[in-house]
Amino acid sequence: MENPFKFGTIVEEEYFTDRVEEVNFICQFVDSANHLILISPRRFGKSSVVTKAVKRTGRKHITVNLQQVTSVADLSGKLLRELFKVHPMERVRHLITHFRIIPMVSTNPVTGAIDVSFQPSADGTVLIEDVMTLIENAHTEEDRIIVVLDEFQEIRDIAPKLDKKLRSIMQQQKHINYILLGSQESMMTDIFEDKKSPFYHFGELMRLGKLPREDFFRYLSERLLACFPDSCDGLANQILDYTACHPYYSQQLAANVWQVGMLQPGTQEPVGTAISYIVTSHSLDYERLWMNFKRTSKWILQRLATGKSLQTGEHRTSTIYSALKKMQKDGYVIYTDHYEIEDPFFKQWILNGI
Ligand SMILES: Nc1ncnc2c1ncn2[C@@H]1O[C@H](COP(=O)(O)OP(=O)(O)OP(=O)(O)O)[C@@H](O)[C@H]1O
Ligand SMILES: [Mg+2]
Repeated sequence: MENPFKFGTIVEEEYFTDRVEEVNFICQFVDSANHLILISPRRFGKSSVVTKAVKRTGRKHITVNLQQVTSVADLSGKLLRELFKVHPMERVRHLITHFRIIPMVSTNPVTGAIDVSFQPSADGTVLIEDVMTLIENAHTEEDRIIVVLDEFQEIRDIAPKLDKKLRSIMQQQKHINYILLGSQESMMTDIFEDKKSPFYHFGELMRLGKLPREDFFRYLSERLLACFPDSCDGLANQILDYTACHPYYSQQLAANVWQVGMLQPGTQEPVGTAISYIVTSHSLDYERLWMNFKRTSKWILQRLATGKSLQTGEHRTSTIYSALKKMQKDGYVIYTDHYEIEDPFFKQWILNGI
């Protein structure tokens, strides 16, 4: 029997639950001339929710993950390759003849997939301009395409001033709805909320929260039923208490609880056993991570793990605050209505060592 839980990739179909309002909102929103910016802490389900919504619109769409982009030429090639998935080459061939630098296009004889690349020495600004113009010209106001740029905060690392260049091209376009996703909270707000940033107020800012408990509870309980017919409700509640309804960690823990049920039926504390297993299997990573934290950060993490106050007089408030900000930016700490350690299993590892 296949594990009914999935974590670490975009989830679709039976692995995807709720987000009804969010999906409706995104679908409706891109039915206008506007662009959408979606922000949340890591692994809250941004990519999954946008994938679902964009498919639901039934419109043409392409997605590029900026985390996998190494240069402007690479970004241009990836965008073009995605466009070829939506339009047969014959339909856009006449538009490519306007390119100032002709791309190298090859077809994989086995999969039929088209690969596109540019000479590494080619001027990135020219390439991206030509590719973006092509995407615009291949569509009309009645037939707008949706372009999703995932992990958009990476834009600043790909090349200097790329954000400025992209913005100046994008604001001329009328046949594209952009959806820009990002997970590094502070950097994403910098990009869209700072008056000096080229992307200042580029589109509507949407924040994704955790999954609603009731729905997630049902999702977990139904899938645990086969292994734990008498205790599935209690286990689902224990999982959600432990992960505070975090989408990724809940699915990760549930997957491991299910595994315990399959391999060691009759285990007394399946949730506790699964937690120990996850913590142990990650302990080498946690150790490495821990060694790289400064002393103040270690102290803060221990206080957060035990739920104790940070205002003890031991460290200056400004020192604590800047360490927290840095850890939040790096994704180790998140702030909802209070600061907490992002990964509940890392938190457990810290608690084990106190
Ligand atoms: N609607 C959902 N229903 C059930 N599980 C979900 C849902 N959305 C997300 N998840 C869980 O969270 C994991 C992460 O989802 P996803 O990759 O979409 O998030 P993300 O915010 O794009 O993450 P990242 O910050 O790594 O880009 C999924 O693999 C899945 O386990
Ligand atoms: Mg993602």
